[in-house]
Amino acid sequence: MDIKQHIREVPDFPKPGILFYDISTLLMHPGAWQHTVRQMADAIAPHKPDLLAGIESRGFLVSAPLALMLGCGFIMLRKKGKLPGATVRHEYDLEYGSDIIEIQEGAVQPGQKVVLVDDLLATGGTLAAAAELIRKVGGQVPAAACIIELTFLNGRDKLDMPITTLAQYDQ
Ligand code: PRP
Ligand code: MG
Repeated sequence: MDIKQHIREVPDFPKPGILFYDISTLLMHPGAWQHTVRQMADAIAPHKPDLLAGIESRGFLVSAPLALMLGCGFIMLRKKGKLPGATVRHEYDLEYGSDIIEIQEGAVQPGQKVVLVDDLLATGGTLAAAAELIRKVGGQVPAAACIIELTFLNGRDKLDMPITTLAQYDQ
C-alpha cells in the first residue's frame, strides 16, 4: 500500500507558497491507517521502548494507538501551560522567536527508553527539543519515528538518534 496516496496535499496552507501534507485523509481510511500504524510499530519495536512520547497535537494521533499496539506506556509532551501539576519545560528556538514544550514531573523514570513519535519531521526543531526534554528528566531516547518527512528541510541533521519516516517528500 502506498501511504502517500492517502495523504492530501493542500497548496497555500497555512500561508501562500506552503504545500501542506494533510493526514486527515489517512485517518479517515481505516485500512490505510492500520497499515501506517503497523509500519510505525515495526520500526519502533526493535528499540524496545518503555514509553512512547507523543508530541502535541498531531503526534498524539499517531503515538497513542502505537503505544497500545506495542504494549508500552504513553506520555504527552505538550505546549506550555497545558499539563497539570509540576512540570519540566524546555525552551527552543524557532525561525522567528521561541517555543516551549513541557512534560509532567515523574512521567519518565531515570534510564527509561523513550521513543519519540510525531506525525511529521520538517526542520527537526520539535523533535530535537523533545529529545532534550526527555534527557533532561533522565530518560534515554533510542529512536524517533514520524509518518512524513520533508527531506528538503534537512531536519535529520538536527537529530542525534535514528529516525524512521514512512513517506518522504522532496518539495
Ligand atoms: C507540526 C508537526 C510537527 C512539527 C514539525 O506541528 O505536527 O509537530 O510541526 O516541525 P519541525 O520539524 O519544523 O519542528 P505544529 O507545531 O504545526 O502543531 P500541531 O501538531 O499541533 O498541528
Ligand atoms: Mg505537531
